[in-house]
Amino acid sequence: MTSILGTGSCLPECVVTNEDYTKTLDTSDEWIYSRTGIKTRHIAKTETITELALAAAKRALLAANTDVSEIGLIVSACITPYNLCPSLSCELMALLGASCPAFDINGACSGFIYALKTANALRNGKKALVLGAEKLSSVTDFTDRATAVLFGDGAGACVIGDGPEAAGLLAAEIFAHPDVHGVLRIPGLDNPEPSVIRMNGRETFKFATRELERVVNVALEKAGYTKDDVRWFIPHQANARIVKTAAERLGVEYERFYMNIERIANTSSATIAIALDELARSGELDRGDLIVLAAFGGGLTSGACVIRW
Ligand code: ACO
Repeated sequence: MTSILGTGSCLPECVVTNEDYTKTLDTSDEWIYSRTGIKTRHIAKTETITELALAAAKRALLAANTDVSEIGLIVSACITPYNLCPSLSCELMALLGASCPAFDINGACSGFIYALKTANALRNGKKALVLGAEKLSSVTDFTDRATAVLFGDGAGACVIGDGPEAAGLLAAEIFAHPDVHGVLRIPGLDNPEPSVIRMNGRETFKFATRELERVVNVALEKAGYTKDDVRWFIPHQANARIVKTAAERLGVEYERFYMNIERIANTSSATIAIALDELARSGELDRGDLIVLAAFGGGLTSGACVIRW
């Protein structure tokens, strides 16, 4: 069965506080924290997304005790690469000295779930490097208080491969939703609009609360488990209020949701990968624990994985 053999992550050095935003925007620490649960975020002032992703990948390889020659596939969930071509995954392949198929996935904030499912399907018995990495500051309108305060930069990675029979990826379910197609957008190169995040916050919020609940239930059913069997839920970190509402709807204590949004904010496809690495290194995750990763994001997309650690 496919197991997660090691994880890694990397955050940019510069930390920006809510207080910092009050100097340029009509906002307050009280508004941001009470509406989102965010206090700080890391912003890449000097690092490129490739550098952050490379550091995360190296840490994951080390944790997995894996030499780069063993990697047979690289899949990165990334909507903010340094170059559109070559992909972030191809850049990492060259920088790491690997030689294997490598490509990126655009699943926005659900990207890491999409990437895990894809890498699992295509790895052909070999080990694969799977990343969620974003420099959202490159597509943030820092004059728009409704979005600027929500986002940060960072990268998370894991190595997947054959593991013990009892452990591994038990279910990975992915979805996209045409009815909420235009709710969150980042215009591309051929679009005359500026390439910055535009979002209908209320619609996204409504979608996210009901969709988090749904994808958790769908993935658990597929894996043959119930929410009572789960030690940790690792949700996409977009807004603590979204997760609290989803937890209530699921009837699960909020304390069983691993949260780092207060420190790191929303790093899109990187949030779950970073949270997984933090949890794996915290001593709060034991062999045999059942965990659920659950995400929603631009597209709008969604997805969830059930993993026996
Ligand atoms: N500081 C102060 N006031 C603000 C700020 C701010 N930073 N941002 C918005 N406001 C104001 C608005 O202008 C509005 O003022 P008005 O009533 O005078 O018009 C008021 O606050 C209320 O605005 P709402 O949008 O209704 O605020 P809400 O409580 O819905 O919170 C938020 C907004 C935090 C964006 C919320 O809707 C949300 O979290 N939505 C989901 C966002 C999300 O999940 N995005 C990411 C998903 S996918 C991805 O990760 C890329």
